[in-house]
Amino acid sequence: MSNKPLNVGLVGGGKGAFIVNPHQKAIHSDGTRRIVAGALFPDPKIALEEAANWPYPIKGYGSYDEMIEANKDLPDDEKLDYIVIVTPNFVHCDPAIKAMQAGIAVFCEKPLCLNMKEAGQLVRTARKLNVPFGLAHTYLGHWTSQFSRFIVQSGLLGDVRWVDSYYLQGWLASKLEATGQQQAAWRVDPKKAGGSGCGGDIGTHALMQLRYVTGLDVTKVSAQMETFVEGRALDDHFTTYCELSNGGKAMVRASQVCIGHKNDLGITIAGSKGTLEWKQEEPEKITIYLPDQPDRVYWRGAVSPGDGFLPKRVPAALLDDVQIPAGHPEAFHDAYARLHRAFEGDVRKWKAGKKFACDGSKYANVEDGWVGMAFLDTCIKSNKKKGAWTSMPKSI
Ligand SMILES: NC(=O)c1ccc[n+]([C@@H]2O[C@H](COP(=O)([O-])OP(=O)(O)OC[C@H]3O[C@@H](n4cnc5c(N)ncnc54)[C@H](O)[C@@H]3O)[C@@H](O)[C@H]2O)c1
Repeated sequence: MSNKPLNVGLVGGGKGAFIVNPHQKAIHSDGTRRIVAGALFPDPKIALEEAANWPYPIKGYGSYDEMIEANKDLPDDEKLDYIVIVTPNFVHCDPAIKAMQAGIAVFCEKPLCLNMKEAGQLVRTARKLNVPFGLAHTYLGHWTSQFSRFIVQSGLLGDVRWVDSYYLQGWLASKLEATGQQQAAWRVDPKKAGGSGCGGDIGTHALMQLRYVTGLDVTKVSAQMETFVEGRALDDHFTTYCELSNGGKAMVRASQVCIGHKNDLGITIAGSKGTLEWKQEEPEKITIYLPDQPDRVYWRGAVSPGDGFLPKRVPAALLDDVQIPAGHPEAFHDAYARLHRAFEGDVRKWKAGKKFACDGSKYANVEDGWVGMAFLDTCIKSNKKKGAWTSMPKSI
Protein backbone atom coordinates (compact mmCIF):
# COMPACT_ATOMS: atom_id res chain seq x y z
CA MET A 1 0.00 0.00 0.00
CA SER A 2 1.22 3.49 -0.84
CA ASN A 3 2.01 5.48 2.30
CA LYS A 4 0.57 8.63 0.76
CA PRO A 5 -2.45 9.65 2.81
CA LEU A 6 -5.76 9.80 0.99
CA ASN A 7 -6.99 13.32 0.23
CA VAL A 8 -10.41 14.04 1.69
CA GLY A 9 -12.70 17.00 0.87
CA LEU A 10 -15.54 18.21 3.08
CA VAL A 11 -18.97 19.30 1.91
CA GLY A 12 -20.39 21.27 4.85
CA GLY A 13 -18.89 21.65 8.30
CA GLY A 14 -18.42 25.39 8.80
CA LYS A 15 -19.82 27.74 11.46
CA GLY A 16 -20.88 25.67 14.45
CA ALA A 17 -21.62 22.49 12.53
CA PHE A 18 -21.87 19.33 14.57
CA ILE A 19 -21.04 16.04 12.89
CA VAL A 20 -18.06 17.31 10.93
CA ASN A 21 -16.04 17.20 14.16
CA PRO A 22 -16.25 13.46 14.86
CA HIS A 23 -15.59 12.86 11.15
CA GLN A 24 -12.47 14.99 11.09
CA LYS A 25 -11.10 13.21 14.18
CA ALA A 26 -11.88 9.82 12.63
CA ILE A 27 -10.39 10.76 9.24
CA HIS A 28 -7.10 11.76 10.89
CA SER A 29 -7.00 8.94 13.43
CA ASP A 30 -4.66 6.64 11.49
CA GLY A 31 -2.49 9.17 9.64
CA THR A 32 -3.45 7.51 6.35
CA ARG A 33 -6.21 9.97 5.47
CA ARG A 34 -6.29 13.75 5.79
CA ILE A 35 -8.67 16.59 5.05
CA VAL A 36 -7.16 18.83 2.39
CA ALA A 37 -10.12 20.85 1.12
CA GLY A 38 -13.60 21.98 1.98
CA ALA A 39 -16.71 23.75 0.77
CA LEU A 40 -17.87 24.46 4.28
CA PHE A 41 -20.85 26.79 4.05
CA PRO A 42 -23.61 27.73 1.57
CA ASP A 43 -22.50 31.39 1.40
CA PRO A 44 -19.25 31.45 -0.66
CA LYS A 45 -17.65 34.30 1.29
CA ILE A 46 -18.28 32.62 4.64
CA ALA A 47 -17.21 29.27 3.17
CA LEU A 48 -13.79 30.73 2.32
CA GLU A 49 -13.47 32.45 5.70
CA GLU A 50 -14.30 29.23 7.51
CA ALA A 51 -11.69 27.34 5.49
CA ALA A 52 -9.09 30.01 6.28
CA ASN A 53 -9.92 29.60 9.99
CA TRP A 54 -9.75 25.80 9.90
CA PRO A 55 -7.36 24.51 12.61
CA TYR A 56 -4.86 23.27 9.99
CA PRO A 57 -4.31 24.37 6.39
CA ILE A 58 -6.95 23.26 3.90
CA LYS A 59 -7.91 24.62 0.50
CA GLY A 60 -11.21 26.49 0.78
CA TYR A 61 -13.82 26.67 -1.96
CA GLY A 62 -16.87 28.90 -2.25
CA SER A 63 -19.11 25.94 -3.13
CA TYR A 64 -18.97 22.19 -3.63
CA ASP A 65 -19.51 22.75 -7.38
CA GLU A 66 -16.27 24.76 -7.42
CA MET A 67 -14.42 22.16 -5.37
CA ILE A 68 -15.48 19.32 -7.67
CA GLU A 69 -14.78 21.32 -10.83
CA ALA A 70 -11.32 22.45 -9.64
CA ASN A 71 -10.39 18.87 -8.84
CA LYS A 72 -10.22 17.99 -12.53
CA ASP A 73 -7.21 20.26 -13.09
CA LEU A 74 -5.21 19.29 -10.01
CA PRO A 75 -2.10 17.12 -10.31
CA ASP A 76 -2.88 13.47 -9.54
CA ASP A 77 -1.36 13.48 -6.06
CA GLU A 78 -3.44 16.52 -5.07
CA LYS A 79 -6.76 15.22 -6.39
CA LEU A 80 -9.47 14.33 -3.88
CA ASP A 81 -9.79 10.61 -3.21
CA TYR A 82 -13.11 10.97 -1.44
CA ILE A 83 -15.49 13.60 -0.15
CA VAL A 84 -17.39 13.51 3.12
CA ILE A 85 -20.88 15.01 2.98
CA VAL A 86 -21.88 16.49 6.34
CA THR A 87 -24.64 18.85 5.18
CA PRO A 88 -28.34 18.64 6.09
CA ASN A 89 -30.25 15.91 4.23
CA PHE A 90 -31.40 18.17 1.37
CA VAL A 91 -27.76 18.76 0.36
CA HIS A 92 -26.71 15.11 0.07
CA CYS A 93 -27.87 13.96 -3.36
CA ASP A 94 -26.55 16.76 -5.57
CA PRO A 95 -22.92 16.86 -4.32
CA ALA A 96 -22.80 13.04 -4.17
CA ILE A 97 -23.88 12.64 -7.79
CA LYS A 98 -21.57 15.40 -9.01
CA ALA A 99 -18.60 13.93 -7.12
CA MET A 100 -19.20 10.42 -8.48
CA GLN A 101 -19.47 11.83 -12.00
CA ALA A 102 -16.12 13.56 -11.46
CA GLY A 103 -14.50 10.30 -10.32
CA ILE A 104 -14.46 11.07 -6.58
CA ALA A 105 -15.64 8.47 -4.03
CA VAL A 106 -18.35 9.52 -1.57
CA PHE A 107 -18.80 9.03 2.15
CA CYS A 108 -22.19 10.56 2.95
CA GLU A 109 -24.04 11.23 6.15
CA LYS A 110 -27.33 9.48 6.80
CA PRO A 111 -30.17 9.45 5.97
CA LEU A 112 -29.12 8.97 2.35
CA CYS A 113 -31.18 11.89 0.98
CA LEU A 114 -34.63 13.46 0.91
CA ASN A 115 -36.84 10.98 -0.93
CA MET A 116 -37.10 7.82 -3.05
CA LYS A 117 -36.46 9.67 -6.30
CA GLU A 118 -33.08 10.90 -5.08
CA ALA A 119 -32.30 7.51 -3.54
CA GLY A 120 -32.88 5.79 -6.89
CA GLN A 121 -30.62 8.29 -8.67
CA LEU A 122 -27.85 7.74 -6.16
CA VAL A 123 -27.94 3.95 -6.38
CA ARG A 124 -28.04 3.99 -10.18
CA THR A 125 -25.15 6.46 -10.42
CA ALA A 126 -22.93 4.57 -7.95
CA ARG A 127 -23.60 1.29 -9.78
CA LYS A 128 -23.13 2.68 -13.27
CA LEU A 129 -19.90 4.49 -12.44
CA ASN A 130 -18.69 1.79 -10.00
CA VAL A 131 -17.59 4.34 -7.40
CA PRO A 132 -17.22 3.46 -3.69
CA PHE A 133 -20.10 4.94 -1.68
CA GLY A 134 -20.24 4.74 2.10
CA LEU A 135 -23.10 5.84 4.33
CA ALA A 136 -22.21 7.08 7.82
CA HIS A 137 -24.31 4.80 10.02
CA THR A 138 -21.83 5.41 12.82
CA TYR A 139 -22.84 2.63 15.16
CA LEU A 140 -21.94 -0.19 12.78
CA GLY A 141 -18.35 0.88 13.44
CA HIS A 142 -18.40 -0.36 17.04
CA TRP A 143 -16.45 -3.58 17.42
CA THR A 144 -19.35 -4.89 19.47
CA SER A 145 -21.78 -4.29 16.55
CA GLN A 146 -19.54 -6.34 14.28
CA PHE A 147 -19.18 -9.03 16.98
CA SER A 148 -22.97 -9.08 17.46
CA ARG A 149 -23.37 -9.55 13.70
CA PHE A 150 -21.02 -12.54 13.86
CA ILE A 151 -22.93 -14.08 16.78
CA VAL A 152 -26.39 -13.68 15.27
CA GLN A 153 -25.47 -14.57 11.70
CA SER A 154 -23.53 -17.65 12.84
CA GLY A 155 -26.82 -18.92 14.27
CA LEU A 156 -25.60 -18.94 17.87
CA LEU A 157 -28.92 -17.49 19.05
CA GLY A 158 -30.95 -19.85 16.83
CA ASP A 159 -33.76 -18.43 14.72
CA VAL A 160 -34.40 -14.75 15.27
CA ARG A 161 -37.92 -14.42 16.66
CA TRP A 162 -38.12 -10.88 17.89
CA VAL A 163 -36.01 -7.72 17.70
CA ASP A 164 -36.45 -4.46 19.56
CA SER A 165 -34.26 -1.80 17.95
CA TYR A 166 -34.66 1.66 19.40
CA TYR A 167 -33.14 5.13 19.51
CA LEU A 168 -34.47 7.48 22.17
CA GLN A 169 -33.47 11.10 22.70
CA GLY A 170 -34.97 14.01 24.65
CA TRP A 171 -33.36 17.10 23.11
CA LEU A 172 -36.43 18.03 21.01
CA ALA A 173 -38.94 17.65 23.87
CA SER A 174 -39.62 21.39 23.66
CA LYS A 175 -39.64 23.74 20.68
CA LEU A 176 -35.86 24.18 20.47
CA GLU A 177 -36.13 25.19 16.81
CA ALA A 178 -37.94 28.40 17.86
CA THR A 179 -34.68 29.57 19.49
CA GLY A 180 -32.89 29.29 16.13
CA GLN A 181 -30.74 26.37 17.34
CA GLN A 182 -28.96 25.32 14.15
CA GLN A 183 -29.24 21.54 14.38
CA ALA A 184 -32.90 21.64 15.45
CA ALA A 185 -33.97 24.20 12.83
CA TRP A 186 -33.36 22.15 9.70
CA ARG A 187 -34.34 18.81 11.30
CA VAL A 188 -37.98 19.91 11.74
CA ASP A 189 -38.29 21.38 8.22
CA PRO A 190 -39.70 18.87 5.67
CA LYS A 191 -37.92 20.65 2.80
CA LYS A 192 -34.55 20.16 4.47
CA ALA A 193 -35.01 16.94 6.47
CA GLY A 194 -37.40 14.91 4.27
CA GLY A 195 -40.80 13.32 4.91
CA SER A 196 -40.02 12.11 8.43
CA GLY A 197 -38.30 14.03 11.22
CA CYS A 198 -37.48 11.68 14.07
CA GLY A 199 -37.80 8.56 11.88
CA GLY A 200 -35.39 9.94 9.29
CA ASP A 201 -32.95 11.38 11.79
CA ILE A 202 -32.59 8.46 14.20
CA GLY A 203 -35.17 5.79 13.27
CA THR A 204 -32.96 5.00 10.28
CA HIS A 205 -30.08 4.24 12.68
CA ALA A 206 -32.30 1.77 14.57
CA LEU A 207 -33.35 0.14 11.29
CA MET A 208 -29.74 -0.12 10.08
CA GLN A 209 -28.61 -1.64 13.39
CA LEU A 210 -31.30 -4.31 13.03
CA ARG A 211 -30.45 -5.07 9.41
CA TYR A 212 -26.69 -5.07 9.97
CA VAL A 213 -26.65 -7.30 13.03
CA THR A 214 -29.32 -9.80 12.01
CA GLY A 215 -28.87 -9.77 8.22
CA LEU A 216 -32.68 -9.71 8.00
CA ASP A 217 -34.84 -7.26 6.12
CA VAL A 218 -38.08 -5.58 7.08
CA THR A 219 -40.81 -6.76 4.70
CA LYS A 220 -43.92 -5.05 6.14
CA VAL A 221 -44.55 -2.23 8.58
CA SER A 222 -47.34 -0.87 10.69
CA ALA A 223 -46.26 2.64 11.64
CA GLN A 224 -47.42 5.37 13.99
CA MET A 225 -45.70 8.72 13.51
CA GLU A 226 -46.59 11.24 16.19
CA THR A 227 -45.85 14.91 16.78
CA PHE A 228 -45.98 15.85 20.44
CA VAL A 229 -44.56 19.36 20.23
CA GLU A 230 -47.22 21.69 18.96
CA GLY A 231 -46.67 23.39 15.61
CA ARG A 232 -44.03 20.97 14.35
CA ALA A 233 -44.55 19.76 10.79
CA LEU A 234 -42.75 16.43 11.19
CA ASP A 235 -42.90 13.50 13.61
CA ASP A 236 -40.90 13.73 16.83
CA HIS A 237 -41.93 10.24 17.96
CA PHE A 238 -41.83 7.23 15.63
CA THR A 239 -42.97 3.68 16.35
CA THR A 240 -43.13 0.81 13.90
CA TYR A 241 -44.10 -2.82 14.28
CA CYS A 242 -42.35 -4.83 11.56
CA GLU A 243 -42.44 -8.19 9.88
CA LEU A 244 -38.99 -9.59 9.11
CA SER A 245 -37.81 -11.54 6.09
CA ASN A 246 -37.50 -14.76 8.16
CA GLY A 247 -41.07 -14.44 9.49
CA GLY A 248 -39.90 -12.94 12.80
CA LYS A 249 -41.22 -9.69 14.24
CA ALA A 250 -39.58 -6.47 15.33
CA MET A 251 -40.10 -3.02 16.67
CA VAL A 252 -38.06 -0.23 15.14
CA ARG A 253 -38.76 2.83 17.22
CA ALA A 254 -37.36 6.25 17.90
CA SER A 255 -38.25 9.31 19.89
CA GLN A 256 -36.82 12.79 20.36
CA VAL A 257 -39.19 13.81 23.15
CA CYS A 258 -38.07 11.36 25.88
CA ILE A 259 -36.60 13.77 28.41
CA GLY A 260 -33.44 12.39 29.99
CA HIS A 261 -32.61 10.02 27.14
CA LYS A 262 -29.49 11.22 25.38
CA ASN A 263 -28.34 8.90 22.62
CA ASP A 264 -30.13 5.83 23.88
CA LEU A 265 -29.71 3.53 20.90
CA GLY A 266 -29.90 -0.15 21.64
CA ILE A 267 -30.97 -3.51 20.34
CA THR A 268 -32.38 -6.67 21.86
CA ILE A 269 -32.44 -9.74 19.66
CA ALA A 270 -34.39 -12.72 20.95
CA GLY A 271 -33.66 -15.99 19.18
CA SER A 272 -34.88 -19.55 19.71
CA LYS A 273 -31.69 -20.39 21.68
CA GLY A 274 -30.84 -17.12 23.42
CA THR A 275 -31.00 -13.35 23.53
CA LEU A 276 -28.42 -10.65 22.78
CA GLU A 277 -28.53 -7.16 24.21
CA TRP A 278 -26.39 -4.14 23.22
CA LYS A 279 -26.59 -0.45 24.12
CA GLN A 280 -24.61 2.23 22.34
CA GLU A 281 -24.14 4.31 25.49
CA GLU A 282 -22.16 1.34 26.89
CA PRO A 283 -20.66 0.24 23.58
CA GLU A 284 -17.81 -1.88 24.89
CA LYS A 285 -19.89 -4.90 25.85
CA ILE A 286 -22.75 -7.13 24.82
CA THR A 287 -24.78 -9.41 27.05
CA ILE A 288 -25.94 -12.87 26.05
CA TYR A 289 -28.78 -14.58 27.87
CA LEU A 290 -29.08 -18.37 27.55
CA PRO A 291 -31.69 -20.61 29.18
CA ASP A 292 -30.75 -21.87 32.64
CA GLN A 293 -27.27 -20.32 32.52
CA PRO A 294 -25.71 -17.29 34.15
CA ASP A 295 -25.74 -14.24 31.87
CA ARG A 296 -22.58 -13.83 29.79
CA VAL A 297 -20.99 -10.42 29.27
CA TYR A 298 -18.52 -10.14 26.39
CA TRP A 299 -16.17 -7.16 26.36
CA ARG A 300 -14.44 -5.87 23.24
CA GLY A 301 -10.99 -7.37 23.07
CA ALA A 302 -11.57 -9.94 25.79
CA VAL A 303 -13.37 -12.87 24.21
CA SER A 304 -12.25 -16.50 24.19
CA PRO A 305 -13.34 -18.64 21.24
CA GLY A 306 -14.50 -22.13 22.22
CA ASP A 307 -15.79 -20.99 25.63
CA GLY A 308 -18.95 -23.07 25.53
CA PHE A 309 -20.95 -20.44 23.64
CA LEU A 310 -18.58 -19.00 21.04
CA PRO A 311 -17.33 -21.48 18.45
CA LYS A 312 -13.62 -22.37 18.30
CA ARG A 313 -13.32 -20.35 15.12
CA VAL A 314 -14.12 -16.68 15.41
CA PRO A 315 -12.84 -14.79 12.32
CA ALA A 316 -9.28 -13.55 12.89
CA ALA A 317 -10.16 -10.26 11.19
CA LEU A 318 -12.69 -9.64 13.96
CA LEU A 319 -10.46 -10.78 16.85
CA ASP A 320 -7.53 -8.71 15.56
CA ASP A 321 -9.55 -5.52 15.04
CA VAL A 322 -9.67 -4.40 18.67
CA GLN A 323 -7.34 -1.35 18.14
CA ILE A 324 -6.64 -0.87 21.86
CA PRO A 325 -6.71 -3.48 24.67
CA ALA A 326 -9.96 -4.12 26.55
CA GLY A 327 -10.54 -1.74 29.43
CA HIS A 328 -9.21 1.30 27.59
CA PRO A 329 -12.62 2.34 26.32
CA GLU A 330 -13.42 2.84 22.66
CA ALA A 331 -16.46 4.97 21.86
CA PHE A 332 -18.23 7.12 19.25
CA HIS A 333 -15.11 8.56 17.55
CA ASP A 334 -13.51 5.10 17.35
CA ALA A 335 -16.64 3.76 15.67
CA TYR A 336 -16.41 6.50 13.04
CA ALA A 337 -12.69 5.75 12.62
CA ARG A 338 -13.44 2.07 11.98
CA LEU A 339 -15.87 3.09 9.21
CA HIS A 340 -13.39 5.48 7.58
CA ARG A 341 -10.62 2.85 7.86
CA ALA A 342 -12.71 0.27 6.05
CA PHE A 343 -13.84 2.80 3.46
CA GLU A 344 -10.21 3.81 2.87
CA GLY A 345 -9.42 0.16 2.08
CA ASP A 346 -12.09 0.11 -0.62
CA VAL A 347 -11.07 3.50 -2.03
CA ARG A 348 -7.44 2.37 -2.32
CA LYS A 349 -8.48 -0.81 -4.13
CA TRP A 350 -10.71 1.19 -6.48
CA LYS A 351 -7.93 3.68 -7.22
CA ALA A 352 -5.58 0.79 -7.99
CA GLY A 353 -8.15 -0.58 -10.47
CA LYS A 354 -8.88 -3.59 -8.24
CA LYS A 355 -12.20 -5.07 -7.22
CA PHE A 356 -13.51 -3.41 -4.07
CA ALA A 357 -16.17 -4.74 -1.71
CA CYS A 358 -18.39 -1.87 -0.53
CA ASP A 359 -20.72 -4.74 0.36
CA GLY A 360 -22.20 -3.44 3.60
CA SER A 361 -20.18 -5.79 5.82
CA LYS A 362 -17.97 -3.08 7.35
CA TYR A 363 -19.97 0.08 6.73
CA ALA A 364 -23.36 0.87 5.23
CA ASN A 365 -23.48 1.42 1.48
CA VAL A 366 -25.73 3.24 -0.97
CA GLU A 367 -28.17 0.32 -1.20
CA ASP A 368 -28.54 0.39 2.60
CA GLY A 369 -29.31 4.09 2.22
CA TRP A 370 -32.00 3.26 -0.34
CA VAL A 371 -33.55 0.71 2.04
CA GLY A 372 -33.60 3.39 4.76
CA MET A 373 -35.45 5.76 2.45
CA ALA A 374 -37.84 2.98 1.33
CA PHE A 375 -38.56 2.20 4.99
CA LEU A 376 -39.42 5.84 5.71
CA ASP A 377 -41.61 6.02 2.61
CA THR A 378 -43.46 2.85 3.62
CA CYS A 379 -43.90 4.12 7.19
CA ILE A 380 -45.36 7.40 5.91
CA LYS A 381 -47.88 5.44 3.78
CA SER A 382 -48.79 3.15 6.68
CA ASN A 383 -49.16 6.07 9.10
CA LYS A 384 -51.54 7.81 6.66
CA LYS A 385 -53.68 4.64 6.78
CA LYS A 386 -53.72 4.72 10.61
CA GLY A 387 -50.96 2.11 10.91
CA ALA A 388 -52.27 -0.39 8.33
CA TRP A 389 -49.74 -3.13 7.47
CA THR A 390 -47.89 -1.92 4.38
CA SER A 391 -45.32 -3.82 2.31
CA MET A 392 -41.83 -2.54 1.68
CA PRO A 393 -40.97 -2.13 -2.01
CA LYS A 394 -38.84 -4.79 -3.69
CA SER A 395 -35.15 -4.01 -3.42
CA ILE A 396 -33.70 -1.80 -6.13
N1 LIG B 1 -24.21 9.53 11.85
C1 LIG B 1 -24.57 10.24 12.90
O1 LIG B 1 -24.49 9.76 14.01
C2 LIG B 1 -25.06 11.64 12.70
C3 LIG B 1 -25.14 12.52 13.79
C4 LIG B 1 -25.54 13.84 13.52
C5 LIG B 1 -25.88 14.27 12.24
N2 LIG B 1 -25.82 13.35 11.22
C6 LIG B 1 -26.17 13.76 9.84
O2 LIG B 1 -25.16 14.66 9.39
C7 LIG B 1 -25.72 15.68 8.57
C8 LIG B 1 -25.39 17.05 9.16
O3 LIG B 1 -25.95 17.15 10.46
P1 LIG B 1 -25.36 18.18 11.53
O4 LIG B 1 -26.10 17.94 12.79
O5 LIG B 1 -23.90 18.15 11.56
O6 LIG B 1 -25.87 19.54 10.89
P2 LIG B 1 -25.27 21.00 11.12
O7 LIG B 1 -26.38 21.93 10.87
O8 LIG B 1 -24.57 21.05 12.43
O9 LIG B 1 -24.17 21.14 9.99
C9 LIG B 1 -24.51 21.22 8.62
C10 LIG B 1 -23.41 21.96 7.89
O10 LIG B 1 -23.69 21.97 6.49
C11 LIG B 1 -23.46 23.29 5.99
N3 LIG B 1 -24.19 23.48 4.73
C12 LIG B 1 -25.52 23.55 4.49
N4 LIG B 1 -25.76 23.70 3.18
C13 LIG B 1 -24.55 23.74 2.56
C14 LIG B 1 -24.12 23.88 1.23
N5 LIG B 1 -25.00 24.04 0.22
N6 LIG B 1 -22.78 23.86 0.96
C15 LIG B 1 -21.89 23.72 1.95
N7 LIG B 1 -22.24 23.59 3.25
C16 LIG B 1 -23.54 23.60 3.55
C17 LIG B 1 -23.90 24.17 7.14
O11 LIG B 1 -23.41 25.47 6.99
C18 LIG B 1 -23.24 23.41 8.29
O12 LIG B 1 -21.86 23.70 8.32
C19 LIG B 1 -27.22 15.38 8.51
O13 LIG B 1 -27.52 14.64 7.35
C20 LIG B 1 -27.47 14.52 9.74
O14 LIG B 1 -28.56 13.63 9.61
C21 LIG B 1 -25.43 12.08 11.44
